[in-house]
Amino acid sequence: MKLTLKIWRQKSKNDKGRIETYQMDNVSEHMSFLEMLDVLNEQLVSKGETPIAFDHDCREGICGMCSLYINGEAHGPDRGITTCQLHMRKFKDGETIYIEPFRAKAFPIIKDLVVDRSAFDRIQHAGGFISVNTSGNTQDANNIPIPKNDADKAFDAATCIGCGACVATCKNASAMLFVSAKVSQFALLPQGKVEAKRRVLNMVEQMDKEGFGNCTNTGACEVECPKGISLENIARMNREFLKAKI
Ligand code: SF4
Ligand code: FES
Repeated sequence: MKLTLKIWRQKSKNDKGRIETYQMDNVSEHMSFLEMLDVLNEQLVSKGETPIAFDHDCREGICGMCSLYINGEAHGPDRGITTCQLHMRKFKDGETIYIEPFRAKAFPIIKDLVVDRSAFDRIQHAGGFISVNTSGNTQDANNIPIPKNDADKAFDAATCIGCGACVATCKNASAMLFVSAKVSQFALLPQGKVEAKRRVLNMVEQMDKEGFGNCTNTGACEVECPKGISLENIARMNREFLKAKI
């Protein structure tokens, strides 16, 4: 395949940034999208040019590090996958592909396609955990009966990998889908009930401090989420928040 790539280049946080054009020949349809960028970077390095910075780690859809906005969609044109799981067979010979970073005020660009998502870490530190007594008398979690439906919903919420596609997709740059998944995975389980009030209040407060927008129920986040995190979690977080406030 022959491709024209229009890629966002930005030297640093304070650089204005611009789209630059690259031509690629002989792209195999079997390559992953990130492998295609690896090949482009090898070509740039061999010409003495600066390679394009982009985030990745596991390349298996697990870690949430990859984060490209491809042709106007977070993680590209496929559904239910991350950028690292996207393959070139999804594109046509001769196509022009726009590649941009995840854009949101709370995700400042570090370089080229790499954004700073540490706002998510700070939200997690504010309450995305349970405090467990590890004195040796701790009850085995498997001894606590949990209704199957609750266990399934908690597990579904826990599959959020913190990639930030929901924020990048949302017209308000809202982090509600991410935060609600992290609240729900505990709210549904007895282990999470002890700190439930403190958790939801602190996490929502941190979310607001980081500069994420509010949710207006558009639902784009759910569509683009690679892990199928449901909007139902946002409704649950709103209920938890109201209960904690009252
Ligand atoms: S809710 Fe989905 S899109 Fe948002 S951070 Fe979690 S996995 Fe990524
Ligand atoms: S590199 Fe880990 S999810 Fe894509």
